[in-house]
Amino acid sequence: MTCVTTSAEETLSRSADSASLARAVARSAEIEQAIDDDPTRFRVLTGDRPTGHLHLGHYFGTIKNRIELQRRGVETWQLIADYQVITDRDGLGPIRERVLSLLADYIAAGMDPQTATIFTHSAVPALNQLLLPFLSLVTESELHRNPTVKAELEATEGRAMSGLLLTYPVHQAADILFCRANLVPVGKDQLPHLEQARLIAHRFDKRFGRVDKNQPVFRRPEALLSQATNVLGLDGEKMSKSRGNTIELRMSADETAKRLRKAKTDADRVITYDPVNRPEVSNLLLMAALASDETPEAIAEEIGDGGGGALKARVTENLNDMLAPIRSRRAELMAHEDYLWEVLRAGNERANEVANATLDDVRAAMNMNY
Ligand code: TRP
Repeated sequence: MTCVTTSAEETLSRSADSASLARAVARSAEIEQAIDDDPTRFRVLTGDRPTGHLHLGHYFGTIKNRIELQRRGVETWQLIADYQVITDRDGLGPIRERVLSLLADYIAAGMDPQTATIFTHSAVPALNQLLLPFLSLVTESELHRNPTVKAELEATEGRAMSGLLLTYPVHQAADILFCRANLVPVGKDQLPHLEQARLIAHRFDKRFGRVDKNQPVFRRPEALLSQATNVLGLDGEKMSKSRGNTIELRMSADETAKRLRKAKTDADRVITYDPVNRPEVSNLLLMAALASDETPEAIAEEIGDGGGGALKARVTENLNDMLAPIRSRRAELMAHEDYLWEVLRAGNERANEVANATLDDVRAAMNMNY
């Protein structure tokens, strides 16, 4: 869809967007400091749709960051958002295998199942029930205006908007609010969802409130804009499974080497880090740098006029070295499926306890606690 004219309203909302982005960036810096001062003040919730296996785009973009937050002592809640799989597609796919794979990816990448609560939507009825009162707090036109929903609808190329796609930001608000998470590490594209969650929390308290106005039912969650590093796929486009341009955490070292041999580079044999003019070469340098302790510029210098072949050999080595321990842990975990299901069962049990308590509060606030 192309749009050539820009209405005054759009211009306004765009400048409001950049103002709120600037605010979110500034606030995130304050939060980082507050985490260093006292990590126990925070509860982080993050979620992923179980639609495939985790790849380096996920790993460098968010997973590494989440694990770092956990290492700094922040309590972590990790949602496997199974109901969100069917927002924009008909089938769930091999959902069991994908949930299992995601569990293995998380733990292999460093998430600690002893302290993290890993759970699925479908196993937590009270979370889902929050959707009903929450839906009463938003209008249809607000739902239609959500930029992330609009973008996702466009990406489905002509599919009709399902009721679940339209309302999933409200469901996502329930994901965050039910467990009283106050911190959600997100990318820019997910900021509108967080705004929606805050608005719902605010409107709930205003409309149904509590007898004691100083005791809101919901905590106000904040976005933590991660210093995420966006790596591109091996063809220089967005890394995504459907383009076959990914490196998945679970791949073998040989598969990784094979994929990288086919990666796009350019004709200039002198390797330089120049993301604007040489996006593919620079992306490979960036991945090599993220996987080692060097800068992309230093790696480019070392390779010099070795060309694309030397660059690919270098990035293959760095990535395989970085991924080796993750892959061996993953293989070990996949050999113990029972253990993985037990981690999920325990996480779901804990999520249910918290969700039931929150729903009790909600029903009490609504005088529905008969
Ligand atoms: N929408 C997120 C995604 O597509 C997944 C998600 C579901 C999520 N619930 C969430 C993210 C709550 C943050 C908070 O990746």
